[in-house]
Amino acid sequence: MTYTTILTETRGKVGLVTLNRPQAMNAFNSTMLTELFDALEAFDNDENVGAMVVTGNEKAFAAGADIKEMAEASPFEMITQGRVEKWDRIRGIKKVVIAAVSGWALGGGCEFAISCDMIVASESAKFGQPEITIGVIPGAGGTQRLARLLGKQLAMEMVINNRTLTAAEALQFGLVNRVVPITGYLDAAIAFAEEIASRAPMAVRMAKDSVNAAFETTLTEGLKAEKRNFYPLFSTEDQKEGMKAFIEKRKANWNGK
Ligand code: HXC
Repeated sequence: MTYTTILTETRGKVGLVTLNRPQAMNAFNSTMLTELFDALEAFDNDENVGAMVVTGNEKAFAAGADIKEMAEASPFEMITQGRVEKWDRIRGIKKVVIAAVSGWALGGGCEFAISCDMIVASESAKFGQPEITIGVIPGAGGTQRLARLLGKQLAMEMVINNRTLTAAEALQFGLVNRVVPITGYLDAAIAFAEEIASRAPMAVRMAKDSVNAAFETTLTEGLKAEKRNFYPLFSTEDQKEGMKAFIEKRKANWNGK
């Protein structure tokens, strides 16, 4: 597949997508958004890929949706083009996606990063929702996900007062998994993804699905969802192998079945 706004490669069992519109701070135009999700879905369907990383460049992960592309849009056009629905494709990805964030993650860039399963940030990463400064609000899930991840007060401040979080603050508030020096943030994210890709694939998939259920429903329904994912794992060869390997004091050899 040939892309014009992203770069893709595999490193071992990790599928890597690099957002590549540096001239526009990696702002998401329609093409980049489509290409990003096409690439993630292709990796999701590739049995040689176990986990994915999405990154930008050192200065900008992504500065949000492309303002120039939507500045003159009417509500009719925004709705018929499904401008915000397009971002929901991230919810269909079954393998783990890690965002490797350096520099600006603003607007849709921040919203995409927090839609991923985990975030590795460089020390220069900055997270914010500046939509209020251009007369709108977040539309790709920011109000909902930030409120769930950070609580009401801080989410309000970010969305209404354009409060930007530094990498250190994002770590302190639990928005990111780890913060590493800028020279090593991508390698750290890839190593993190490799670790995930080396685990029993179906267990990883069920784990992701179960944790995500916590954001969707009540505790009672969430616990049911967890059980629905837990029991079928006992039909996998990897469960038998994993438990046998523990008892035999050796490393498990997963076959993905
Ligand atoms: C289009 C953008 C852009 C964006 C930057 N650029 N962000 N173009 N859409 N979101 C372009 C600039 O116009 C400029 O192009 C070039 O990238 C470099 O940007 P500068 O502003 O000159 O760089 P700098 O001074 O370093 O400032 C970086 C920045 C700033 C802090 C990231 O660019 C910025 O505030 N960007 C907008 C952030 C934002 O408001 N995001 C929310 C978008 S709405 P030229 O041609 O002049 O060189 C959104 C809603 C999503 O995301 C909802 C779903 C649809």
